[in-house]
Amino acid sequence: MLKDLEAVLAAAAIAAAPLAMGACDGGDDGETESVTDAGCPGSTGGCPGTTTGCPGTSAGCPGTSAGCPATEPPTNADDLLAWLEAESYSGWASESAVHASSGPHGNVKIFINQTLDDSLGAANAEHPMGAAAVKELYDADSTTRIGWSVEIKTAADSNMGMNWYWFDYKNDALNMEGMGLGTCIGCHASGADYVTVTYPLQ
Ligand code: HEC
Repeated sequence: MLKDLEAVLAAAAIAAAPLAMGACDGGDDGETESVTDAGCPGSTGGCPGTTTGCPGTSAGCPGTSAGCPATEPPTNADDLLAWLEAESYSGWASESAVHASSGPHGNVKIFINQTLDDSLGAANAEHPMGAAAVKELYDADSTTRIGWSVEIKTAADSNMGMNWYWFDYKNDALNMEGMGLGTCIGCHASGADYVTVTYPLQ
């Protein structure tokens, strides 16, 4: 009987523990954040905590919740593709419509994350680490999405484009991906820190 009571108390303590934790604050209060913290994305089986303080930003995992950082794109091809297929960038600022690219990208619609949005807004010559743009690629009819081009800054210093991660996927095939790809940076060098989109977004 006493054993049973202990078990009930232990279970109650476990259930109560998340409530005792703070909001999803990036661990500022010294606590390890939990998926059950207020403001954090909910837990999905097998989803690890990635963004500081907020779990569940990996490919296929839950995205943004109020109070948590926006879900950020991974910089390896497999995870990034899953992240793109889940349209994890859908909450980012975007162009209002699909339009013809002035470059080689066909018909496109560009999305930028908050970090890049802020940096473009400040007309920075160099964007901070974590700045990212996703470009949806469309068929000639402008309604069928056929892939994505992506650029993600992986360090504060651009290092002549070498610290940007580039990714291009079209018609169910990985065209190219990697750090500082010559094909991409050769053309993107015309933009401020390799970003060429017209800003404010059209
Ligand atoms: C011949 C020039 C050219 C090449 C090569 C090129 N791009 Fe672009 N890219 C552009 C232009 C111009 C834009 C601006 C938007 C538009 O008109 O498409 C752009 C826009 C983008 C954007 C949206 C953010 C931004 O910088 O404006 C991404 C992401 C992107 N390109 C990725 C890539 C990747 C990845 C590669 C290499 C596989 C690549 N691009 C190669 C010309 C190029």
